[in-house]
Amino acid sequence: MEFTVAIDGPAASGKGTIARAIAAEFGFAHLDTGLLYRAVAMKGGDPVGAAKSLNADDLARDDLRSLAAGEAASRVAVLPEVRAALVAFQREFAQRAGGAVLDGRDIGTVICPEAEVKLFVTASPETRAERRWQETGTGSYEEVLEQVRTRDARDMDRADAPLRPAEDAVLLDTSDLSIDEAVARAREVVAARLAR
Ligand code: CDP
Repeated sequence: MEFTVAIDGPAASGKGTIARAIAAEFGFAHLDTGLLYRAVAMKGGDPVGAAKSLNADDLARDDLRSLAAGEAASRVAVLPEVRAALVAFQREFAQRAGGAVLDGRDIGTVICPEAEVKLFVTASPETRAERRWQETGTGSYEEVLEQVRTRDARDMDRADAPLRPAEDAVLLDTSDLSIDEAVARAREVVAARLAR
């Protein structure tokens, strides 16, 4: 059975946590597509070459989750050739038998416009900065908030595959939701579509 769940949203909105929980609950494979852009950025050198030659070792680096890697990722992610080099891998992953969850910025709009379920997960910049600050323990809250705003702007204003909800995406604002509540809402959407 092919069944794709596309989960998009800005930094620290909760999409990764929701994606992992949905994958575990329904037995789907999960791909954190942000990791691809982070790995391209951290590989160094020409980003287009890095994207074309990305391998498992690049994705296993232990520095990919840092704030610096996220910032660098959003800079290489504006390059159409970098994005194009990563499309086939993501689409193949989405089509694997048994179902797949992909989280990122352009899954519902560009990578998998035919996905069975599309979620767009948001939260206020302040909530997201607080979460990211707690999670990374790096810098001050104000610095992290500034980075969140800068990255939002870069991701939303780029010409190629900007961050925006697909027209048929279900919006999920997690500002005032616990992780369990957010996951429960997402689970309802997936279960309803599976039952059709
Ligand atoms: O975890 P967080 O939301 O902070 O970041 P991420 O999902 O790992 O993505 C890092 C950066 O990669 C984003 O700011 C985007 O610029 C880029 N990205 C993208 O352009 N398209 C995707 N499908 C996933 C990430």
